[in-house]
Amino acid sequence: MNETMRGGPGRFKRDDEGSNPARGPSLADIIDAKISRRALLGGLAGAAAGSALGGIGMIGVAHAAPSSLTFAEAAHEIADDHSVAAGYRADVLIRWGDPVLPDAPAFEPGKASPAAQERQFGYNNDYVGFFPLPVGSSNANHGLLVVNHEYTNPELMFPGITEANAATTLTREQCETEMAAHGLSVVEVKKVDGRWRVIEGGRFARRLSFRSTPMAVSGPAAGHPRMRTAADPTGKAVIGTLNNCAGGKTPWGTVLTAEENFHQYFAGDPTKTAEAANLKRVGITGKPNYPWGRHFDRMNVEKEPNEPNRFGWIVEFDPYDPTSLPVKRTALGRFKHEAATVVINPNGRVTVYTGDDERFEYLYRFVSSGRFDPADRAANKTLLDDGVLYVAKFTGSGAVKWIPMVWGEGLLTPSNGFAAQADVLIDCRRAADMLGATKLDRPEDVETNPVTGKVYMMLTNNTNRQPNQVDAPNPRAKNAFGHVIEMVPPGEGAKRDHTASEYAWNVFLLAGDPGKPEHGARYHAETSGSGWLAAPDNCAFDRKGRLWISTDQGSAQAKNGIPDGMYACDTEGAGRALTRFFYACPRAAEMCGPEFTPDGTTLFVAVQHPAESEGSTFDKPATRWPDFKDGMPPRPAIVAITRADGGEIGS
Ligand code: FEO
Ligand code: CA
Ligand code: CA
Ligand code: CA
Repeated sequence: MNETMRGGPGRFKRDDEGSNPARGPSLADIIDAKISRRALLGGLAGAAAGSALGGIGMIGVAHAAPSSLTFAEAAHEIADDHSVAAGYRADVLIRWGDPVLPDAPAFEPGKASPAAQERQFGYNNDYVGFFPLPVGSSNANHGLLVVNHEYTNPELMFPGITEANAATTLTREQCETEMAAHGLSVVEVKKVDGRWRVIEGGRFARRLSFRSTPMAVSGPAAGHPRMRTAADPTGKAVIGTLNNCAGGKTPWGTVLTAEENFHQYFAGDPTKTAEAANLKRVGITGKPNYPWGRHFDRMNVEKEPNEPNRFGWIVEFDPYDPTSLPVKRTALGRFKHEAATVVINPNGRVTVYTGDDERFEYLYRFVSSGRFDPADRAANKTLLDDGVLYVAKFTGSGAVKWIPMVWGEGLLTPSNGFAAQADVLIDCRRAADMLGATKLDRPEDVETNPVTGKVYMMLTNNTNRQPNQVDAPNPRAKNAFGHVIEMVPPGEGAKRDHTASEYAWNVFLLAGDPGKPEHGARYHAETSGSGWLAAPDNCAFDRKGRLWISTDQGSAQAKNGIPDGMYACDTEGAGRALTRFFYACPRAAEMCGPEFTPDGTTLFVAVQHPAESEGSTFDKPATRWPDFKDGMPPRPAIVAITRADGGEIGS
């Protein structure tokens, strides 16, 4: 979901309501901005000379395309159906409502129910993780797909519901169906005769939901009084996970799922609670996008002011064990987590990168105290409970400094309202504000290049950034198209040190249409009319270290005139930042979850919210992708992309 969807109290403003009050530029921002304009100009020029990033002097120079990606670009136009580059297949693998558990009923249009939905594939697939079978192998033909179900579109799920009437019309049962459609699915998938299929009711099949799945809480905030509710006096046992956006995998074979926009589900007047400042800082306004609070006390902050403190975490579970208890790892902080990217450092410590996706929010990094032991899977499962959380401060001089968020140090003390590390973690945004972290243009996915060890952050957009708030890492005011930042930890390749207190960084690309100077876009000079992108959101790397970017323009899709989809580019050499268009989503869908099999021959992608647009409903949707049958609504789905000849994607 994207901040550019309709504003006001409409149900589509789900990513970003801008709750960081620190809007005016700080002194540090002003100093950074002054340095940064110089650094940006110098940095881009330098990059252009060395690696062809948008060098003006290169425009119009004709020579063979320098990209290592050989596919002919897909059609860069909005259509009812999806499409992929010539020579590739794009097969729908599993759709909303398809059976997941052994006794799940078949999907019946217009008849979604809580009981059926808890056994069927959930709504609005986002993150996709491929876990080879057996555990510990690199099998590329058989494995588990772990999929996040971020949110629901009731106007596309239920007959007779519109955006305008949903708040007052949705029944308790429909709200429960929505709750069951949130969460995750685990499905077993196998490639048979070159085609992927789901093994229905396989022994690893699992549904996790907001409605009913028990989860544990671990780390410094577990059991804290602010984590307790009437239903859970221990503060260590939560029902459900909420708004699971992107995520990540650990080298020990568990999944990390990121709870993002949890704020939009809670009703009640936050000013009447002891948590008023906290609720305000995470965007809980008393005007939720979902009417669940009309039917359930836990969704009303006047009745359960601590319930929102139990969401906004990174949740870890073992997909290879369908009975495993998911655990909310509080050491990684509470905010609108977008992703969780794990790196094992040369010293064995584990780094997790995770962004807080909202305008003017921050990038974080967790570093474990313990060390990864490839021979001790059980011990690795508690590594994320003990370590140091850091927040990023970018300087105009091309350094990113990691500021530790440790209770008792610096300003994180009782006199500033932090009585324990639990307060630092629950009020993570406020702690980061006090530490002078850099306010970014919506940090979404973060990934590490497996070849070079450099780290890439997608910044989707921020149309609220004013000219006096421009700085080096956010170089455009009214940033409608987003950009990508490259961070360079010290060292080389796999030996880079992701525990270092300072990295180098630069702007990798500025999205938008390079043919329109007013966009201020910067790519490789040979980026084609099809290769430009808007609103980078999720990303993945292939085995060769090439960056694959998925986009989420929201309602700007129609205005921009291009579909969301997959783009790919080299990050090094002559084709650096030369993005090429590979796959187009169907109308009004966003692209999520890019995930390669270990051999690089399959790319799984998630088509989220097809047909989500003004006036589009179950009865009259903007597209009926992927089934295109009368009476069948559009259905979010996972798509398996393979090359017709079975070769490596992108080649
Ligand atoms: Fe759910 Fe930040 O996208
Ligand atoms: Ca998104
Ligand atoms: Ca996202
Ligand atoms: Ca990713």
